Amino acid sequence: MLSTMLLDQGFVATDITHQTKAKQEVIRTGAWRCPICTYDNEDSMSECDICGALRNCLVRISQTGDSTADTFHAGGGRCKSSGASVMVKSLFASFRHRAPAKSVAFEAKNDAVLIEDAFIIRRNFQEFLRAFSSQKHQNINIAAPFKFDSPSPDDLVSTRLHSSKLDSKANFKRLSSLDMSTREREKNILIESELGTEGPNSSSASVARDGGVKERDFASDCGIKPEILVSRMRSVSLSSKSRTGNVNEETGTSNLEYKPEAWMIPDQAEDRLSQLNLAIVGHVDSGKSTLSGRLLHLLGRISQKEMHRHEKEAKQQGKGSFAYAWALDESAEERERGITMTVAVAFFNSRKYHVVLLDSPGHRDFVPNMISGATQADAAILVVDASMGSFEAGLDPIGGQTREHALLIRSFGVDQIIVVVNKMDVVEYSQERFEMVKQKLGTFLRSCGFKDSSVLWVPASSMENQNLVATPDERLFSWFHGPCLLDAIDSLQLPARDYSKPLLMPICDIIKSQSQGQVSTCGKLVTGAIRTGSKVLIMPSREVATIRSLERDSQACKIARSGDNVTVNLQGIENNHVTAGGVLCHPDFPVRVSNHLELKILVLDIKIPILSGSQLELHIHHAKEAATVVKILSLLDPKTGKVTKKSPRCILAKQNAVVEVVLQGSVCVEEYAESRALGRVSLRSSGRTVALGLVTQIMKTQ
Ligand code: GTP
Ligand code: MG
Repeated sequence: MLSTMLLDQGFVATDITHQTKAKQEVIRTGAWRCPICTYDNEDSMSECDICGALRNCLVRISQTGDSTADTFHAGGGRCKSSGASVMVKSLFASFRHRAPAKSVAFEAKNDAVLIEDAFIIRRNFQEFLRAFSSQKHQNINIAAPFKFDSPSPDDLVSTRLHSSKLDSKANFKRLSSLDMSTREREKNILIESELGTEGPNSSSASVARDGGVKERDFASDCGIKPEILVSRMRSVSLSSKSRTGNVNEETGTSNLEYKPEAWMIPDQAEDRLSQLNLAIVGHVDSGKSTLSGRLLHLLGRISQKEMHRHEKEAKQQGKGSFAYAWALDESAEERERGITMTVAVAFFNSRKYHVVLLDSPGHRDFVPNMISGATQADAAILVVDASMGSFEAGLDPIGGQTREHALLIRSFGVDQIIVVVNKMDVVEYSQERFEMVKQKLGTFLRSCGFKDSSVLWVPASSMENQNLVATPDERLFSWFHGPCLLDAIDSLQLPARDYSKPLLMPICDIIKSQSQGQVSTCGKLVTGAIRTGSKVLIMPSREVATIRSLERDSQACKIARSGDNVTVNLQGIENNHVTAGGVLCHPDFPVRVSNHLELKILVLDIKIPILSGSQLELHIHHAKEAATVVKILSLLDPKTGKVTKKSPRCILAKQNAVVEVVLQGSVCVEEYAESRALGRVSLRSSGRTVALGLVTQIMKTQ
């Protein structure tokens, strides 16, 4: 039906599909070659197992129960010695069929057991579907129109929620259960002022300082007026609504009030470095992995012996310059192609933080993987290549990943950024070049909503080890006296952690051991806390499991709290009930599951308008689903947030709009006002991010 709708609309997706189909070279019976990354996928795969490219975005995955298709794969690689781990290729396994792919190995450190080829799990998709359909489906339909009476688009979200709650109180039990008394609400309020007092006006003030003409160029290239983006990205003051407690199926009541236990709140006296999740992002080949490898080596996380091995092997393959990158790019394919494809996770300690480094792929085909890693970020390092032409390519409106990554991380709520102007050796440590990069990129970052005071600039050379962990030599020091990269990392502020709400941990990665009957999940706790022995609810399968053990940086730990990035080893759960893209929750406070959402979106610089019927790819935390725009409710004035047009036919570049989308499969989701991490989405099409959005309403809960 969705396909028909799309075909009726004659939307571009039709063309994309045909093109994609044409490019799919048939390799052998039962396999198809991905036109993007050339990986040979099993015929049963609807998307590329490596890069996630959809094979045919109009054809719904067969649910005939064909057992050969009803398999999926998950796994993960952890390299103990380098301190780096590679996320599994199935970051977005979600609820899809997955064909068996390469086996991977990981080292179960505690048990000192090497488990190989153990992660290929077969599951019966029909059983999975039956389990789903047996759940009570609760239909929530709030059709009341928006009340646009507040000035900023983000304020609008809360206004919308407030008005919809009032409008639908009579027939909407669940929401009324969320309505806490003002006192209660205030008690739990977590207001995090993301952009402080510097808003649109200060942005234009900077325009005057830095040259208005350039500002306009970049902002319009990106498809958004600076002041629009600034106000668009401005955080809302959230009224804190706890998730509802588990509904008692017999009485239909719930209303459990969540109270964190004493151990869940960190003890100030606790002698432990706070964990800082740091995403390394930027255009392809800017030197992200080399920089990460160099840092790990300088900080003792990669031994000299190991480094020698990387150097030797890289040289043998004629890729000597990638030696440091190889510490992060562990797969044969990544090394052969000289690009990062999946997010690599590594750890090191600075003076102030236990840093979780998330080295993202820069190649545009792997932006979905970058999204999955970067949604966990507390702050980011944006690496740009200073060399002539390369910096400019990164800022190109079509295909420039400096631009796309900066917008994406800002949309994930990251507001602190270190810009490493890398490869300064190539431009002979020219101050002039550095200032030019700073001026141009600074203007663009301002237009994305980054405050000048939250952007740190670090000229460096990863190759020549300049300005990474120590003061650089004369070539840089003669004109740059700012902090080196490590000091810049220490100057970042830890975002507020939310210990007062029930557990939410989006599952980024799963490691399954069939032989041991053990499942491990990796991810960052968004809210709440867990410890060994805690019971957790696994969504969307709604199964309860017990935490057998916890690991932080491959070391066993007893407790993990909001902000911590951990591996959670589960027991009492079947493998097929845990999927990447799912969420671990407090058993009494399940996350919502839905396939029908209302979104407020900011459309980027698109060439083809978004229509009712347009098919896009929706990314939310670690999940990805095909989405169809079923309704365009209104266009909004980007400055005031007021409706400028109801039920428009289409949405053009740079417009703000409220739309309804229906997803092919369900995702774990919360409204933005309840959980920022689970209420932010990005929409992509043809390998490009076309819109950023917030979930303003969950139309239907399952
Ligand atoms: P993707 O992950 O594929 O986006 O690439 P990346 O950003 O991780 O780049 P990577 O670290 O793989 O480096 C790409 C190339 O740039 C390699 O040949 C590196 O040796 C080179 N490179 C990285 N840093 C520097 C530097 O500071 N100076 C010079 N001259 N070359 C560098
Ligand atoms: Mg890389």
